[in-house]
Amino acid sequence: MAVSRTPASIPQNGVSLPADKPVTVPSFLAAPGLGVKLTVLTAYDYTMARLLDRSGVDALLVGDSLGMVVQGRENSLAVTMDEMIYHTRMVARGTKRALVIADMPFMSYQVSPQQALENAGRLVKEGEAQAIKVEGGVRTIDAIRAITRADIPVMGHVGMTPQSVHRFGGFRVQRDEAKIIEDALAVQEAGAFSVVLECIPAEIACKISDALDVPTIGIGAGAGCDGQVLVTPDLLGMFDDLKPRFAKRYMELGDVIVEAARSYCREVRDGDFPGPEHAFR
Ligand code: KIV
Repeated sequence: MAVSRTPASIPQNGVSLPADKPVTVPSFLAAPGLGVKLTVLTAYDYTMARLLDRSGVDALLVGDSLGMVVQGRENSLAVTMDEMIYHTRMVARGTKRALVIADMPFMSYQVSPQQALENAGRLVKEGEAQAIKVEGGVRTIDAIRAITRADIPVMGHVGMTPQSVHRFGGFRVQRDEAKIIEDALAVQEAGAFSVVLECIPAEIACKISDALDVPTIGIGAGAGCDGQVLVTPDLLGMFDDLKPRFAKRYMELGDVIVEAARSYCREVRDGDFPGPEHAFR
């Protein structure tokens, strides 16, 4: 899977993958060699997927973060395969250009490579995902090998893997350089086409990005990765339960929504809505 690539630590200049062509796994892989920084955002439903796809984002990740930002849970551990398939199908239906990647939820791939393959297959067949993502490094390589052998592209995810929240004792920055590098290399060697680096020091992320042939996608991992991913409700300022320092809020859409709903309530109560233009004669 090796591709020629610009070292991730070299600043890039606003170039993107072609806006009029669907992003594929090969174009994703080729991006670093073209000096393109990859952009990934999470999506969980049709309407948001359509809007984000129009923005020119390269990939939409149906993250199991939906456990928190859609379902209101404390972590992602309770998310099921059926829920992932349901959300992935909605996102796929709203997406024309971006690559649709679906997360493998907790306990959908840990039991055996056979279980991992069957569940990855469900995300592709029933959810219409184009690729899947699995958390974990060395401990996940048998699952990655089984899935990629069936021609299902796999994105790896190392560093602070949210499904390990209880082992880490919380969502904490991971600093064991040797372990994180070993994990990233193992995931690539097992066949992953890309690796998410979450919540690790920027220096480690740079070293990994320069060592790997496949693109690294950072979240809380500094600017030296081949691309970035954010959880969309964080970027839009819609989610307040957790506000990680790495999650830049590009707007406070939550406040805009509350204000719009307040105006509606006020107009209904004052008799200003609906007006004649909203009624049928
Ligand atoms: O579930 C998710 O949204 C993720 C991203 C934070 C990478 O795994």
